[in-house]
Amino acid sequence: MLETPERDYLRQLVGKLDPQRQLWLAGYVQGLVDAGLSTGISAGKQVKNLSIYFATETGNSKKVAQGLEKAAKNAGFKTKLQAFNRAQAQKFKEEGTLIFVTSTQGEGEYPDAAKPLVEKLNALPAQALSGLHYAVIGLGDSAYSQFCGAALKLDALLTEKGATVLLATVTLNVDYAQHLDGVYSQVLAKAAQDQTAASEAGYSRLSPVKGVIKDIVNLNDVGSDRETYHIEIGFDAEISYQPGDALGVILPAQADGSTPVPRLYSIASALSAAPDEVHLTVARSTYKQEDGSIGYGLCSNYLAQLQADDEIQFFIHRNDNFRLPEDDSAEVIMLGAGTGIAPFRAFIQERAARDASGKNRLIFGNPHAHYDFLYQAEWQDYLDSGILSEIHLAFSRDQAEKIYVQHKVAALGADLIHALDNGAYFYVCGAKQPMSHDVEQSLIALLVQHKGLSVEAASDYLNDLSDAGRYLKDVY
Ligand SMILES: Cc1cc2nc3c(=O)[nH]c(=O)nc-3n(C[C@H](O)[C@H](O)[C@H](O)COP(=O)(O)OP(=O)(O)OC[C@H]3O[C@@H](n4cnc5c(N)ncnc54)[C@H](O)[C@@H]3O)c2cc1C
Ligand SMILES: Cc1cc2nc3c(=O)[nH]c(=O)nc-3n(C[C@H](O)[C@H](O)[C@H](O)COP(=O)(O)O)c2cc1C
Repeated sequence: MLETPERDYLRQLVGKLDPQRQLWLAGYVQGLVDAGLSTGISAGKQVKNLSIYFATETGNSKKVAQGLEKAAKNAGFKTKLQAFNRAQAQKFKEEGTLIFVTSTQGEGEYPDAAKPLVEKLNALPAQALSGLHYAVIGLGDSAYSQFCGAALKLDALLTEKGATVLLATVTLNVDYAQHLDGVYSQVLAKAAQDQTAASEAGYSRLSPVKGVIKDIVNLNDVGSDRETYHIEIGFDAEISYQPGDALGVILPAQADGSTPVPRLYSIASALSAAPDEVHLTVARSTYKQEDGSIGYGLCSNYLAQLQADDEIQFFIHRNDNFRLPEDDSAEVIMLGAGTGIAPFRAFIQERAARDASGKNRLIFGNPHAHYDFLYQAEWQDYLDSGILSEIHLAFSRDQAEKIYVQHKVAALGADLIHALDNGAYFYVCGAKQPMSHDVEQSLIALLVQHKGLSVEAASDYLNDLSDAGRYLKDVY
């Protein structure tokens, strides 16, 4: 089944591993097969919950838990990350799948922070946790006689209380950092598989689609300190998506053989405007490396370097929580910062195609008008044709004082509140922190000012709006 070079490579790799690592590899590959990870993890069309708890003495387990949370988010899970000492054992069953990350201290002992929870778990009656699905990741040092003793004890305790384990305790040694990508994939594959099985009948995972890059351009003008790529991907497959959905990008296997977790990108096109294509708006993420040089995020860097005719593998990640109103006469207010503009390009294309009579307003923010006005010509055309009723631009660094999207929300004043009272839909996309938080504070301030509500009542108003599907966020 394998080609000779592949077989040789596999033999070489397996030959280098000790029995424990060979066993791990077997489990890893099984995990991929079981969950179809090689074809991309997707938590599916329903929002899936993953709660991650960590217990740490010196911070290693926390870092591992944070990394897992990030990978899980990118795979489409709704996540919660907490220290063990904040856990409420009686609420575990409401939390979806649980992942525990714990180190071992003393001679096979739990870290101090884990002890209160362990006591609570011990006090539970047998079978109290039946229905709970979990996995444990242990950090330890094989120089100690009870390697990852705490993780193994926790696993046994949870099983004893009736919980169902997703995979055997993952034990990580002092060289854990190099194994994390594989561990994250393995754990998330099991969690996705578990939750898919639990989801409603009729749901089926979309198989990966092979696409071809048709066009890729940097939307930022020369002189900008950022790079944001508009990427057009063509495909032949029979797939469909709706404005509001995201694309899961499957990265090629890395030099070390690992398969990174897929990353999600909001889809920036509507099939009504671009049949057989899907467009993305991707910011190449950068960070400063220790030696001062610039490092790049894995997936955005991969995408930024693609060229026309290159192949790409992807899947559609549905998001039923970010949809246009069914009623075309409803008003739509779209607030996007940076790449948060992406889904709104899809929205406006769709509203135009449907000839929707409702008002469309856009609030957009980025650093400089001259360099960073993403899709400027398109928005101008929509304004000219009247499809876009208003555009409110927050170019933060074009003047002495910073102007952000939340300031544009504030400036809309009573008019915005009037629109919300009259059935408008308010969408927010872009950075969760601080952007979406600041925008929410602005909305609350407006409600207090123009409706005479208390801060608490204003917050309730937004919660009600959100329950009614009219205050929707796609933030990351
Ligand atoms: C629902 C959803 C929609 C999204 N839509 C979009 C979109 O439309 N457009 C878009 O651009 N993004 C979008 N994202 C974000 C996107 O999925 C990725 O998270 C983003 O591109 C970064 O991934 P990466 O692989 O490039 O970076 P990663 O390699 O995952 O790194 C993550 C971050 O850490 C930094 N980093 C990496 N290594 C190091 C290191 N050694 N030291 C310090 N810092 C480091 C990177 O610069 C980056 O900022 C969306 C996310 C979600 C969940
Ligand atoms: C005093 C001490 C005792 C430890 N005892 C064990 C042990 O019994 N078994 C084990 O596998 N690891 C043991 N370790 C190793 C830690 O679990 C390991 O360093 C881990 O990465 C720490 O993670 P943390 O920062 O999340 O606590 C011990 C470490 C220290 C400092």
